[in-house]
Amino acid sequence: MNKAWHLLARAAFIAGLAAPVLAQEQFADMKDSCIACHGEDAAEDVPHLGGLDAYYALLQLVAFRGGQRQNDLMSGLVADFTDNDLRAASEWVATLPAPDAPPGKPDADRMEAGAQLSKDHRCASCHGADYTGGRQMPPLRNQRQEYLAKSLQDYKAERRIGDRAAMVEIATDLSDDDIRTLAYYMAHLE
Ligand code: HEC
Ligand code: HEC
Repeated sequence: MNKAWHLLARAAFIAGLAAPVLAQEQFADMKDSCIACHGEDAAEDVPHLGGLDAYYALLQLVAFRGGQRQNDLMSGLVADFTDNDLRAASEWVATLPAPDAPPGKPDADRMEAGAQLSKDHRCASCHGADYTGGRQMPPLRNQRQEYLAKSLQDYKAERRIGDRAAMVEIATDLSDDDIRTLAYYMAHLE
């Protein structure tokens, strides 16, 4: 099922290279509702969308629609979206600027502990040297701390599987303390 979903998303992505201009125009009215939840004043467990690659965003939107990724808010929202709508949404997401580091100086000890954990688990080998992601890899850099921690807990509990289950395998080895430290580190990179 995981593989079929990935192939479906990829097919939708490739088909979308023929520029869904009409869907983009239709989607224009919806951006405000996305920003209402995801914008600067968002709750700490709602992700920043800035910095996400269009392909990663599309994979996630297809997964919300198909139920492979469970979230009542997002699944309800995109339940009736067509492939074109999802493509238009993901292309818009990819235009948003990546988030800045939160204000204030991060705790040096926690940053050092986070950097060491990231090195031990080779997080940068997939998420990029600066954790800015790309293609199917989400950026972690300056993503909201609580959302990062929630995501890692979701993989660990297999509530979220993701493409090829790479993250489930990785998160299984992380203690709750490791997760807190890694989330703090990624959220506060300068
Ligand atoms: C009612 C609030 C709400 C609205 C409206 C909303 N979202 Fe979300 N969205 C969320 C939450 C909460 C999550 C995190 C779900 C989770 O924890 O797995 C999320 C996750 C996502 C993700 C995955 C991000 C990642 O890093 O994996 C994408 C992409 C996304 N939303 C796009 C959109 C778009 C596009 C719209 C507008 C069409 C939108 N959202 C509207 C609440 C909302
Ligand atoms: C083998 C490659 C690989 C490695 C190593 C890896 N990741 Fe990931 N990670 C991924 C992929 C692929 C996804 C997207 C999975 C999906 O579709 O849900 C992901 C998703 C995530 C997410 C969800 C982000 C979001 O926006 O929803 C977090 C958080 C995360 N990884 C943290 C980490 C941390 C911390 C480490 C090191 C402990 C790590 N990853 C190591 C491949 C990797």
